[in-house]
Amino acid sequence: MSEQVYLNGRYLPLAEANVSVLDRGFLFGDGVYEVIPVYSGRLFRLEDHIVRLNVSLAGIRLLLDKTVAEWQAIFMPLLASDKDQYIYLQISRGYAAKRDHGFPDPVEPTVFAMCSDIKPFAGRITGIKALTLNDTRWARCDIKATALLAPVLLRQEALDQDCAEAILLRNGYVTEGAASNVFAVIDGELITPPRNADILAGITRDVILELAQAHAIACREGIIAEEALADASEIWVTSSTREIVPVIEIDGKAVGDGKPGPVFQRMDALFQAYKQSLA
Ligand code: PDD
Repeated sequence: MSEQVYLNGRYLPLAEANVSVLDRGFLFGDGVYEVIPVYSGRLFRLEDHIVRLNVSLAGIRLLLDKTVAEWQAIFMPLLASDKDQYIYLQISRGYAAKRDHGFPDPVEPTVFAMCSDIKPFAGRITGIKALTLNDTRWARCDIKATALLAPVLLRQEALDQDCAEAILLRNGYVTEGAASNVFAVIDGELITPPRNADILAGITRDVILELAQAHAIACREGIIAEEALADASEIWVTSSTREIVPVIEIDGKAVGDGKPGPVFQRMDALFQAYKQSLA
């Protein structure tokens, strides 16, 4: 963690960064966030993250117009080393003198950012176990909302069963992971569920789709039925902090031959090379 964090226009030590208990982020989970990787001191796909942030802000009717350059200027002083790191940015609908569901007037958003190290995730190399669970989240999963109670409970249920991620099912179809997107290799084709309100449009997901296209790896956005998971030779979960993680066991059954598969090996190498190329 960097020593300094950003809060409402000031840089200060984490221990001194306080918000009111009447902040709507605390009372209602009324806010949105972003997680932006930093590789070799560079913000990874910053523009894409800010585009998604603006979608989230519009989705919760919170007005905050900052350019990519303005966000970059806020983040740069937080970058502490050239290790892999990430910026966590959270914007809530701010303080209101009275607890009331309706929006305060005027709204003064609380803007908080900090930088943390990305700890290498061992499961990226070895593969992880996953569990399918009923997707109990709301109908606007395209908004990166700080109200994360359902994903918290879903991830914990997976952890309780010795699994590193929950793969979520809605009406018999895969949506995404508790905090990740899902890819499956079925009949030699890489498939990920389409972009809609059931999933968060992951930036890692976008990069994988681009790399597949550029390197002639058969890939498409399409629905993945629950039963199709049993036919998948590979399943991956993807996110900014864990990158591409192969799932080697799902609901107690081996995926493919129970080892990270060849399409994963190829895509992971392409992804690492892409990261390096931006450094
Ligand atoms: N979560 N879907 C959900 C529900 C997520 O929470 C995340 C990431 C993703 C992947 O998006 P991206 O590739 O842009 O990280 C998909 C972050 C890492 C988190 O909540 O910490």
